[in-house]
Amino acid sequence: MAGKNKTTLDIEIFGSEILRTPCSVVKKFDKKLSKLTDKMFKTMYNQNGVGLAAPQIGENIRLIVIDEEWSPEDDYRAPKVLINPVIVFKEGEMESYEGCLSFPGVFFNVTRAKKIVFKYQDLNGKDHRSEAEGNLLCRVIQHEIDHLDGRLFVDIANDKAIAKEELEKHNLADVDSKPPIILG
Ligand code: CO
Repeated sequence: MAGKNKTTLDIEIFGSEILRTPCSVVKKFDKKLSKLTDKMFKTMYNQNGVGLAAPQIGENIRLIVIDEEWSPEDDYRAPKVLINPVIVFKEGEMESYEGCLSFPGVFFNVTRAKKIVFKYQDLNGKDHRSEAEGNLLCRVIQHEIDHLDGRLFVDIANDKAIAKEELEKHNLADVDSKPPIILG
């Protein structure tokens, strides 16, 4: 039940159409947006995730939350909100063993860029530019931005057979294995 006062949000699971729908640009930086962000963080921490994209909780907007530094033992948190994020430069390759909250229990290797330069806006609409190289942040940002374009890690599995096996093992039939058509 999607009650208004629920502290965590339901996560869309592979097969849900919204996960394949490219998201629209955020234009309004209002209280509603920051409240949604809070709920996304609660949901992410609750599920032991290091990142969450808005379409995963049913909102078709270009918003992601990340905390790749979170340590449950001492509850150290370093939450990051990236609105309208864009990768402006990428270089190199690295193999990355990934999971996704929309694919419970599923893990496999994908190849990501080793270095990225990215731009985004914060909750006040202020522009930022940053970079990441060879670390978890670098992987998470690429994974989450893919979500905003309707792309899923299953589309770029290094070994399709292993990915298919993993999906079957976790009862996530590949009903929706087609990536979206990106126009423009
Ligand atoms: Co994901």
